[in-house]
Amino acid sequence: MRIVYWLFVVSAALFVSGIGFIVAGARTTHRVAPAEAPALTPVASVKQIMNGIVQPAANVVFGSVGTIISAAGIVEKAPKTDEEWAAVGSSAVALVESANLLVMGDRAVDREDWVKMSRALAEAGMTALKATEAKSTDGVLSAGAAVNESCDNCHRKYQRE
Ligand code: HEC
Repeated sequence: MRIVYWLFVVSAALFVSGIGFIVAGARTTHRVAPAEAPALTPVASVKQIMNGIVQPAANVVFGSVGTIISAAGIVEKAPKTDEEWAAVGSSAVALVESANLLVMGDRAVDREDWVKMSRALAEAGMTALKATEAKSTDGVLSAGAAVNESCDNCHRKYQRE
């Protein structure tokens, strides 16, 4: 009787620790080892980032909504399908990421206004992204205005041409 009881306890204990093992195993497979940060080598000039990423992305955001007035009448322009909204969102987030690129390495001209103005671009891009997620035409329109202002502010101070 005693032996049977102990066998039961032992097997119960094995069973529980087995479960523990599985749980621990599941946890460890989900925990990604913190990889060593890869060495980042900035390649593009600010001008290339502007022409290659910022301007094309801004064009998509600016061009996605608005009112087109022509002889044919007034047409409200807005993304229609989920895919169209998502495409505008992708461009909005490209603006956010390009703001990250602008402060990487020695691209930041200084640690004050340049950083602030890059952040303003990132924030306006984030607002545009959220507006696309909410499928808000007005939201994209006003975020677009904020994006445009962030471009102008930085160019006024830093674009030498
Ligand atoms: C943090 C500062 C900053 C922000 C924000 C910024 N730019 Fe620029 N941009 C610059 C600088 C500096 C130059 C000049 C680069 C050069 O000539 O080397 C430039 C140049 C440009 C050029 C001209 C590139 C050429 O071929 O001469 C375009 C186009 C441009 N920016 C578009 C934009 C747009 C669109 C936005 C906003 C969505 C924007 N930029 C936001 C700093 C900024």
